[in-house]
Amino acid sequence: MKKANIAVLVSGGGTNLQAILDAYGSGTISHGRVVLVVSNNPGAYALERARAAGIRAEVCSKKLLGTQQDCEGAMTALFEEAGVDLIVLAGFLSILSAEFTQRWKGRIINIHPSLIPSFCGAGCYGLKVHEMALARGVKITGATVHYVNEVPDGGTIIAQKAVEVMDGDTPEVLQRRVMEQAEWVIFPMAVEKVCSQIIKEDR
Ligand code: GRF
Repeated sequence: MKKANIAVLVSGGGTNLQAILDAYGSGTISHGRVVLVVSNNPGAYALERARAAGIRAEVCSKKLLGTQQDCEGAMTALFEEAGVDLIVLAGFLSILSAEFTQRWKGRIINIHPSLIPSFCGAGCYGLKVHEMALARGVKITGATVHYVNEVPDGGTIIAQKAVEVMDGDTPEVLQRRVMEQAEWVIFPMAVEKVCSQIIKEDR
């Protein structure tokens, strides 16, 4: 069966990358395969996960390459060389330029650890999202997978899943619950859905 070529962009631990790799292993993802992992942080553990799975892992950091434009140019060259069909942002802590999102329009998706439009947008990432949810006192939070356009966390929503906030939650405890109950569940499913659409379009 034809498969969409996926590049995963990471900055940190890579548990979402792992969920995608595991879903490929179990057959939950069957219309795509990860061919490349790119990190903007040379110390990201996600790079180890990629290598352990036998996947090409590259670093595109400003420190190595210069400006953001240089990094995005290097990534586009890597994606074109690898024939990438879909770019998956899995804990990638850098906002992509309008030029880059336009170049890959409809081919970039991201996971955000809240129910968009709550607690999202520029500067709203990682643990901060859960700190904001707890400070606002919401009883339900969750995760969202969405297409990426030039507006941070502003693209069309693909999937969402709600997660309960419990009394006494710390940001760390809530982050873990959102990952386990929502992110690692809906992200692989959304990747499969988008890959199967890409395969259909390309027929
Ligand atoms: C996740 O919570 C993701 O939603 C957010 O950053 C975190 C990345 O975790 N954007 P990991 O690197 O996938 O473990």
